[in-house]
Amino acid sequence: MSPLQVRNPFDNEDAEQAGSASAQVDPLLVEIDHVAIAVRDLGAAIDFYRDTFGALVEHREIVEDDGVEEALLRVAESYIQLLTPTRDDSPVARFLDSRGEGLHHIGYRVADCAVALQAVKDHGGRVIDEAPRPGSRGTTVAFVHPKAAFGTLIELVEV
Ligand code: CO
Repeated sequence: MSPLQVRNPFDNEDAEQAGSASAQVDPLLVEIDHVAIAVRDLGAAIDFYRDTFGALVEHREIVEDDGVEEALLRVAESYIQLLTPTRDDSPVARFLDSRGEGLHHIGYRVADCAVALQAVKDHGGRVIDEAPRPGSRGTTVAFVHPKAAFGTLIELVEV
């Protein structure tokens, strides 16, 4: 068995042993870094999270290359990332036009973005970023195509 394969617990009659077998696997995804939500009015979305849930903005940034402004609201060790376009031709603007507001991507925290990205390629996955690149707040990121990931846009985030 390769170290990346998880033993099927149903192959093993001893349930306790099967449970410990999964500990052999070194997971590449170590935390949910953020859940990103595309919104048209960033201020209104921030107000909603603050007034309703008491969630406060910890970081705010305009990422010119991506054509987005983001606000990060901490939830335990993760974030809600509210995203809004800064120009009409940005990917998030196109997303809002075609899909409307809502869940845009999941950011998984990884120890090494290049290693996780290579794992996607090794398993025949389709990537958006061929190599890791700078993300917001000094992170290193790479996006995995939703068509290769069961309909969810995935961002690999090395903090
Ligand atoms: Co993100």
